[in-house]
Amino acid sequence: MDTELHTLLHVHTTRHVRRNRTAMSDRYQGFVSTPIGKLLVKNLGLPNPTRLERWTEGAPLVDGTVVLGGEGRLFPTLPATLDGLGIASTQALDEGQQAKGLVFDATGITDAAGLVALQEFFTPLMRRLASCPHVVVIGTPPESVEGSERVAQRALEGFTRSLGKEIGRGGTVQLVYVAPEAEDSVDSTLAFFLSPKSAYVSGQVVRVGAHGPTRTAPVADWTRPLAGKVALVTGASRGIGEEIARVLHRDGATVVGVDVPQAASELQALMRELDGDHLVLDITAPDAPQRIAHHLREHHGGVDVVVHNAGITRDKKLANMAVDRWNSVIAVNLTAPELITRELLDAGVVNEGGRIVGVASIAGIAGNVGQTNYAASKAGVIGFVESLRDDLPDGITVNAVAPGFIITQMTAAVPFATREVGQRLNAMAQGGLPVDVAETIAWYASPGSGAVNGNTVRVCGQMMLGA
Ligand SMILES: NC(=O)c1ccc[n+]([C@@H]2O[C@H](COP(=O)([O-])OP(=O)(O)OC[C@H]3O[C@@H](n4cnc5c(N)ncnc54)[C@H](O)[C@@H]3O)[C@@H](O)[C@H]2O)c1
Repeated sequence: MDTELHTLLHVHTTRHVRRNRTAMSDRYQGFVSTPIGKLLVKNLGLPNPTRLERWTEGAPLVDGTVVLGGEGRLFPTLPATLDGLGIASTQALDEGQQAKGLVFDATGITDAAGLVALQEFFTPLMRRLASCPHVVVIGTPPESVEGSERVAQRALEGFTRSLGKEIGRGGTVQLVYVAPEAEDSVDSTLAFFLSPKSAYVSGQVVRVGAHGPTRTAPVADWTRPLAGKVALVTGASRGIGEEIARVLHRDGATVVGVDVPQAASELQALMRELDGDHLVLDITAPDAPQRIAHHLREHHGGVDVVVHNAGITRDKKLANMAVDRWNSVIAVNLTAPELITRELLDAGVVNEGGRIVGVASIAGIAGNVGQTNYAASKAGVIGFVESLRDDLPDGITVNAVAPGFIITQMTAAVPFATREVGQRLNAMAQGGLPVDVAETIAWYASPGSGAVNGNTVRVCGQMMLGA
């Protein structure tokens, strides 16, 4: 891949760029919505990205009807589950009615021949989808079954990933593997994947109840699920971290933001705005884990959500890689989250039902020229999730997000042509927004996500790079 392209996929220039919360402009998307732009798109076959719907406070989770199909362990309870979330569902659309979402229970498919049920359900509905539809296929984790059932359940991955690439119209498609006995723990996951909160997440395979707990706490108030919770967010002063802080605050949490001394004034201003708290330190400092643990215990009585968002890049091809560039990236992106998590767990600072979230990157999955250090650190974040997920006490979970091309002030500083290529290389032909990463983290953080453990979900518009 072009060496400039990797830079634009993970741009973290050291230049300070002023914060600006408004969605960064996607000039191409603006242009194609003009009359002349529409003409050129039609005649030249240019990509025509759909303006993605995103959730706004006070809106229903789904603005329309969800069609349910299939048969299996979850089907009997799906209508009540969706009803509890305020989502209207049906098994058959009225004439002329469109579907805003589809949920297919594939857990009853036990062999390859049975897969035709997918075609029978989905094909007639493909022409009856509203804009930005959200599709969820529910399966059984293949590793929990054997023989022809395992084959058929594994086949669902190819189906959902392909449908994600062809659905178009800003649609998303996910496969949710629900472990036996976790049937009652899917509310928060359906709420996320059927709503515009998951606008830029597609083609993902998620496991509920496959690691650790299969049960989850009931959510008293879906509009403020994090009321009374304390959330630590590192690198919170700007970019994706700032948006994580805003969304967790919106969901009711008290946010404790962490950032380096150079970012102290931005951090303080943001935390004041969010009625939060701040801690100015470098997370790689030898005493950082103890200082964070001490602060959380003394000032907040513990922590419920820990988001390891702070991250840096120091790109160079390996032939030119100086050891300090290698070490600084590993120290910030990987060693610090490991040591901080270890200290918080050992000191008993993470409350019961706590949520630990790592921020990986698609570079850690697909690899990238000039990013051997960064991709190693981000693949390590996925390893961090895998190493912890089966051993956490007290209903604590660990998951990660792997962002793709996220539009920030920084990516806006990348040369136009390079940025354009990077933004279009995904099923949605556009970059994501920091809020897309933040909403995914808010889903993990929800008290309703107690059985969502051990996942790494890409927030990448189903980018063509990597799996
Ligand atoms: N922007 C993208 O497209 C993208 C893509 C994939 C992954 N990511 C990941 O998302 C996270 C946030 O990225 P961003 O684009 O918002 O970056 P950013 O550079 O805008 O923000 C990172 C924040 O972390 C802070 N930070 C850095 N080193 C620190 C340290 N030692 N101690 C405390 N704070 C420190 C910075 O001061 C900054 O506020 C990173 O982990 C990054 O690797 C971003």
